[in-house]
Amino acid sequence: MPEYDLLVLNGLVVTDNETGEFDIAVKDGKIAEVVPRGSLKAHTASKTIDAEGGMVMPGGVDAHVHLDEPPLFGKGATADNYETGTRSAICGGTTTLITFAPQAKNQPSLLACLEATHARARDNCYSDYSFHLICSNAGPQAISEFAGLRAAGISSLKIYMTYEALQLKDSEILDVLFEARKQQIVTMIHAENGAIIDWTIKKLEEKKLFAPKYHVTSHPPVAEIEATYRAISLSDFIDVPILIVHVSSPSAAQHINDAQRRGLPVYAETCPQYLFLTRKDLDKPGFEGAKCVCSPPPREGEQDHEGIWQGIENGTFTVLSSDHCPFLFDNHEIGKKTSITAEHPNGHFRYIPNGCPGVETRLSLALSAHRLQLQKFVEVTSTNAAKLYGLYPKKGALVPGVSDADLTIWYPEGMKEFTLKNEMLHHNVDYTPYEGKTLKQWPRYTVLRGEVVWAKDEGGLLGKKGYGQFLKRGVSSLAGSRSKEEWNVEDF
Ligand SMILES: *[C@@H]1O[C@H](CO)[C@@H](O)[C@H](O)[C@H]1NC(C)=O
Ligand SMILES: *[C@@H]1O[C@H](CO)[C@@H](O)[C@H](O)[C@H]1NC(C)=O
Repeated sequence: MPEYDLLVLNGLVVTDNETGEFDIAVKDGKIAEVVPRGSLKAHTASKTIDAEGGMVMPGGVDAHVHLDEPPLFGKGATADNYETGTRSAICGGTTTLITFAPQAKNQPSLLACLEATHARARDNCYSDYSFHLICSNAGPQAISEFAGLRAAGISSLKIYMTYEALQLKDSEILDVLFEARKQQIVTMIHAENGAIIDWTIKKLEEKKLFAPKYHVTSHPPVAEIEATYRAISLSDFIDVPILIVHVSSPSAAQHINDAQRRGLPVYAETCPQYLFLTRKDLDKPGFEGAKCVCSPPPREGEQDHEGIWQGIENGTFTVLSSDHCPFLFDNHEIGKKTSITAEHPNGHFRYIPNGCPGVETRLSLALSAHRLQLQKFVEVTSTNAAKLYGLYPKKGALVPGVSDADLTIWYPEGMKEFTLKNEMLHHNVDYTPYEGKTLKQWPRYTVLRGEVVWAKDEGGLLGKKGYGQFLKRGVSSLAGSRSKEEWNVEDF
């Protein structure tokens, strides 16, 4: 009997807090040893990977992914289900996804939505997974179920300040935050002012401006900036941690940075579309720009990208997620082209399903940019998501005897270069917004709980549907409410 199941030798191991020439031994799906290079020479294993000096990191954790969601508003349905979405994830080096379990306005129960989402995911996943509940009906039943969600291993919720079908009023947001504080739940907030967006859409329609590029115009930065500041104010009032999802505007990030300096538990997320796309990507001939319609939209250009990169570097952003929200492009029934009618042959921007695919390209895009320190890269693409959402140090770390053996192993620096093509990807979407982009890196191997599930040059996808497990999550290990006392209205 070999001593270990897997050895990963000659890697440059990078975690959020350490970089070094270490060899790794894996046993029973867990990290068993992380020791100086060469120390495992005398040991036997069922399988050995020679990393040849390439980087070895904890598997990616992507905490913002939409899969198999029932259409909640308008036309359009997510192109990826749990099978194709989690398959795409592991081929891009991501071993854990946190997807969404959405509640519609006419559904009073969150626990029922959790059950329905479990049924869609069960036995279908290639990666490990958990869910954030989307709360769009914050009635008494939903609020009373927060404790039940915690018992079921769910420690985060998402709410919306925009989209008629999902939007909560400020008083409902306070109801959610108040109970979230009691139950130690992290609330994710889509911070855009729905009224500003709807009003601007009407102004564009009055002028008969319908092209995809007007999606950007209809989501002005002020809508994001105002809602971000309001979300921070509500969280400050209740004294409860929040995460502002998919921040696109450096001015919104400035509000978050100010809140953090004041010691508030305000966290933030950004996504590759705010680092690599601009409004020009929506201004292409015909309907092509629809591929990059997402909300908030990509902003002006270089300066915005620079502000977001700086926010990642200086810690304003906690996580870099994909916001994988996949819609087919060339499809009139459920895809982007549902917005094309006889009246609007190039579509109408307000009816284009919002979202871009990106679960498989997130890590390679961000790493190939050569912008972040390597430990910072691991922190924002893996470790911090595990910490914030109660998965650490099982995920996001390489602690012997404790962490799952989830690894992303990269090519040795400079060995390869890739031209990104949609046909390389494993999602169920007919395009990538990054077609033709040169990438300096792609995961050579992905390991999930000790199993090699992706080996780019040795068969590609090796993982099996159904191997992915549901992860019960605990409380966040990042700073929470400042006061341990019960919230008391008389304090104000
Ligand atoms: C890095 O973090 C891990 C997990 O908390 C810890 O076990 C390890 O000692 C840390 N390493 C350093 C160099 O601080
Ligand atoms: C950090 O980044 C944020 C977001 O871009 C920015 O507002 C802030 O000024 C930066 N702080 C420092 C000290 O650079």
